[in-house]
Amino acid sequence: MSKVPVELSQIDLNPGTLWFWRAGDDNVALLLEREGEGLAIDLPDGPGLMALCAREQIQLREVWFTHGHHDHVRGLPSLPSSLSLLGPPGLSIFRDYRRVHEGERLSWQGLEAEVLETPGHSDLDICFVLREAKLLFCGDLIFDCGCGRMFAGPAPRFWQSLQRLKSLPGELRVFCGHDYTGDNLQFSAKLMPEEPWYQEALKALGQTREACGMPLSLQQQLQRNLFLGADRPEVAEAVGFRAGTKPAEVFAELRQRRNGA
Ligand SMILES: [Fe+2]
Repeated sequence: MSKVPVELSQIDLNPGTLWFWRAGDDNVALLLEREGEGLAIDLPDGPGLMALCAREQIQLREVWFTHGHHDHVRGLPSLPSSLSLLGPPGLSIFRDYRRVHEGERLSWQGLEAEVLETPGHSDLDICFVLREAKLLFCGDLIFDCGCGRMFAGPAPRFWQSLQRLKSLPGELRVFCGHDYTGDNLQFSAKLMPEEPWYQEALKALGQTREACGMPLSLQQQLQRNLFLGADRPEVAEAVGFRAGTKPAEVFAELRQRRNGA
């Protein structure tokens, strides 16, 4: 019998609940519940998800995938075949699923969501924007003070995807696919030593934050996430470029340095 995840956090969706927990080393698992019905965003932890659903008497009905990397779909084989699945085209999940595209509107238990295509991490990444519920599920597009690895690229396309977050309401609560906060803060603090916020956040880490460090505020990420700030002159200069360098080039250099950090 699988165990309910230990480090379990939740926020009130009024009505309903969003549960989230650390799965494996650094993945973040997500389950929305309303009226006893469940919707999972990605599947890093099938057994933990089913144990939580059993404890809370939630009927898991749907799964929405942000992209097809193994650590986001690996829970599927342990789940019932009756689930409704959706995600971007091209997922290798060996089950029927609904392909969704840019701008498509989704609805689940009275919650409205919009699909945003944000490729760059992989070829097929999408985000789910729930404006009324003030939620953004962004998969591996961004993390707290970081972003996903550039497996697909190229840099201008990834940068364009990041740019799309700037037109969204800052009040959105961002839930990402991984928690790399400590490493990202260390990287940012080293690169921008004149910004005291990163050092302070590093010190506070583990003392004040919830499990997984989520939700993030989109507004805060827009201010402090250096990958989203590749168009700022001081960020270009921090990686040795002159102010005015194309942001996609600055972004590519940031990503490269973070890979080696
Ligand atoms: Fe990924």
